[in-house]
Amino acid sequence: DVSRPPLVHVKGIPLIKYFAEALGPLQNFTPCPDDLLISTYPKSGTTWISEILDMIYQGGKLENCCRAPIYARVPFLEFQCPGIPSGLESLKETPAPRLIKTHLPLSLLPRSLLDQKIKVIYVARNAKDVAVSYYNFYNMAKVHPEPGTWDSFLKNFMEGKVSYGSWFQHVKEWWELTHTHPVLYLFYEDMKENPKREIKKILEFLGRSLPEEIVDIIVQHTSFKKMKENPMANYTTLPSEIMDHDVSPFMRKGITGDWKNTFTVAQNECFDDHYAEKMAGCDLKFRCSL
Ligand code: PPS
Repeated sequence: DVSRPPLVHVKGIPLIKYFAEALGPLQNFTPCPDDLLISTYPKSGTTWISEILDMIYQGGKLENCCRAPIYARVPFLEFQCPGIPSGLESLKETPAPRLIKTHLPLSLLPRSLLDQKIKVIYVARNAKDVAVSYYNFYNMAKVHPEPGTWDSFLKNFMEGKVSYGSWFQHVKEWWELTHTHPVLYLFYEDMKENPKREIKKILEFLGRSLPEEIVDIIVQHTSFKKMKENPMANYTTLPSEIMDHDVSPFMRKGITGDWKNTFTVAQNECFDDHYAEKMAGCDLKFRCSL
């Protein structure tokens, strides 16, 4: 039982206690030049893009992508939790070229990743869907504190008082990084609209190419339906003391616009005002109305 410890603040950012404890040893992390960093704010399509990238790296060979759960194929940099190998431990077992997942804001990311210009694929998802997905995840993943009511969780989300801090800060600072660092900045909504187009963008960014029929296999294998059924992608291999899929499955709905089923009209108006204020002057545009 991981017992829902309260969040811990590191440089002002609230974090899951176990992950905060992992940050010390991470400061000496030395990347390999061909590492690829997958960066997201939580619940933005991390597992989806991870499965796509592993499929690309495995040349579309389905049997290779079933070799281990997603968190072993794509180690989670700052992950640490009693009884499970940490991100750093998993990375030691991972042959190059490695895929590495992180949700860290730039202020907490090991400097070496930036100094060595490690390639980054960032996925952003519209804030309202992230908030709803995050609320359900807080309920099922017990490394988080109790989320409280939806209304109080939404307030905390808007104020950046949830694990990993402010969504606004995260999407903006990683967007700014695109000016000085090799970052491919993708959107969940674009991936939903046309996954094949987005996979081709990824291939171009990586300087790789795959035959059309392999790209089609990747699109099929990484559909929400397939990933929901795939124990190597859906997190059901973790003990229920850590993630309780009876409370809410990790692969919950996988759609855009689910926020409309959860936000009240008043919550939506309040959120829109806050959004306009936080995103003022930023050229980063989300298709929130989807
Ligand atoms: S985590 O815990 O931060 O790594 O979660 P993350 O993987 O970023 O986000 C989980 C949400 O992504 C949805 N998902 C998908 N959507 C579409 N297609 C595919 N293949 C897919 N795989 C995962 C997942 O269902 C969560 O969103 P919600 O809205 O809760 O369903």
